[in-house]
Amino acid sequence: MSTDSKEKVKIIIDGKEVLAPKGENLLKVLLENKAAVPHYCYHPGLSIAGACRMCFVEVEGQPRPLISCNATVSEGMAVKTTTEKVKEIQKWNLAFHLINHPLDCPICDQAGECGLQNYYMKHGKYNSDMQENKVLKRKVISIGDHIMLDTERCILCSRCVRFFDEVPKTSEMAIFNRGDRSEIGTFQDKALNNNYTLNSVDICPVGALTSKDFRFKKRVWFLKDVDSVCPGCSTGCNVTVSFDPIEKRTYRMRPRLNEEVNSYWMCDYGRLRYKQTEPENRILAPLKKVKGNLLPIDWKNAHTEWKEILKESSELAVLVTPQYTSEELEAVYHFFTQTVKTQAIFHTIEAQKLSDAVIDELLLRQDKNPNSQGLLSIAKKYNLENQDLFYFEQQLKTKSWKTLVVFAPQDPQSIPNFLSWLEKGQNISKKILIGTHISHATPFFDLILPTLTFVEKNGTFVNFKNMEQKINAATRSVEEAKPIAEVLCL
Ligand code: SF4
Ligand code: SF4
Ligand code: FES
Repeated sequence: MSTDSKEKVKIIIDGKEVLAPKGENLLKVLLENKAAVPHYCYHPGLSIAGACRMCFVEVEGQPRPLISCNATVSEGMAVKTTTEKVKEIQKWNLAFHLINHPLDCPICDQAGECGLQNYYMKHGKYNSDMQENKVLKRKVISIGDHIMLDTERCILCSRCVRFFDEVPKTSEMAIFNRGDRSEIGTFQDKALNNNYTLNSVDICPVGALTSKDFRFKKRVWFLKDVDSVCPGCSTGCNVTVSFDPIEKRTYRMRPRLNEEVNSYWMCDYGRLRYKQTEPENRILAPLKKVKGNLLPIDWKNAHTEWKEILKESSELAVLVTPQYTSEELEAVYHFFTQTVKTQAIFHTIEAQKLSDAVIDELLLRQDKNPNSQGLLSIAKKYNLENQDLFYFEQQLKTKSWKTLVVFAPQDPQSIPNFLSWLEKGQNISKKILIGTHISHATPFFDLILPTLTFVEKNGTFVNFKNMEQKINAATRSVEEAKPIAEVLCL
């Protein structure tokens, strides 16, 4: 049952009356009502552990303070989150968490978004009573393709253990030993190699689990965030894209809550799709083939070439891929049918083979395109939905097209056989690629016009469930790349 449909009861939080779903987790309700209750082990997407003992509150009628993550809401409950008793518990608990914590903050990637740092500023004891030396533990351990572990920094909240038990259900992690020798690790030092490992970095409240991809690259306070959607497959996981506005570079992508699509999680494959936006593999300027070599030209010349090609093009075909936004695809279909007056617009979706199947039992889908449904509905509007790749290949055998315009996949991995289809059209005299990446297919083209990746534009992707979801521009990493409308001179 969704929380909205649950019976509501009145409770009092720090003297203020609020309505909350009956039986709802008390800490969740407190946090939703802006009560700043410190917590480490509680995560709304995981089971309750009651391990960190930070979320104590006082509830009227109860003989002693209780952990709010393990309590549920009932009618008339009066909760106090800032009493002297509560503050005293928080202070000593935090001191306990820090007994063996190393002084790594200046070199720790979690700095700026660390639960220990943040709570210490507010609830810290400041003067240490410790006379013993800290217990030293293992540091800088690679525990998988994407994750580094520092066991000294771990506060044993067990979020990562519960995550791997409950979400991908791979159960690689556990807490070993007892007392102050307790240590987080993987079973028999096995590598974390499932497709969801980087979620553990997001949920680790300290710097014990860090991402190999992100660590030491950028201090988080230099980054800005925008809401977007992962382009990695037709699931369309909701994400936050983090970028450096001065450097104009994207640094990471993290999942954003959407209960209907991806909950709190995303897969590692999708998370690392942001790397496709880096300038290193991008088409940095328009390119024209001169004596067999692709040479950079400016946009003025590129547009002159483009207009000449369109003028001569009585026999022109277009191939589009479902890696573009619905707005871009609408512009493409409209331009070529209405202005260029061709119906030879083909798409790369094989409708009979299009599958909603999840290939890793969680989120990642077989269809590695973010907008297959958007493309199909636009093609249908123009009565061109049946002109798929199979039909295109048939037509290549009989038609004598002079020009082929290809809207290339933004992610070359998504359509692995891309080049082999193109090779069947060797007789076509002018081949134009509109796209983002240098790939094995690039030398096949005579004119190449660079356009924007998913972090550089606004628009809509329609996921496998036919849900329209918005992507938002973060930063423009390649100055010379242009929006589709400008590429086409609309
Ligand atoms: S590694 Fe992080 S998430 Fe895992 S138990 Fe330690 S602090 Fe918690
Ligand atoms: S499941 Fe698909 S949409 Fe979600 S993160 Fe992975 S690749 Fe991206
Ligand atoms: S959040 Fe309640 S005990 Fe950790």
